[in-house]
Amino acid sequence: MSNDLMRFSVAMPEDLLVRFDRLVARRGLAKNRSEVVRDLVRDALVEEECATPGTEVMGTLTIVFSHHASDLQEKLHAIQHEYLDSIVSSMHVHLDQHNCLEVIVLRGETGLVQDIANLILGTKGVKNGRLVVTTTGQHI
Ligand code: NI
Repeated sequence: MSNDLMRFSVAMPEDLLVRFDRLVARRGLAKNRSEVVRDLVRDALVEEECATPGTEVMGTLTIVFSHHASDLQEKLHAIQHEYLDSIVSSMHVHLDQHNCLEVIVLRGETGLVQDIANLILGTKGVKNGRLVVTTTGQHI
């Protein structure tokens, strides 16, 4: 497949185009409509690839919890040891007197990464969190 740029035209309602141009402006001087469209298409393709069972993904799971919650840190530790083949690294930040933030980097089959994240997010005492998955985008 060639990497030469191909041109195509897009029709869209005017109000949507106005909002799109504001998005382009927010992304900085170096961006133009074409570059932002390419970014959005790549993001959509990565998202779809990450949702395809069997795909190898990398994930970052960010969670916030109180370190006063009984046994919580031990439980989070136990889960990470149980799935050590999928846990690449973790970083712990003490936010204030009560709260901790942890960023856990995962790697593996997309379904397994999601399951491990759900296990951690569902652990009693985890206040909130979010998993972000991506691929190397080698096919994109
Ligand atoms: Ni802490």
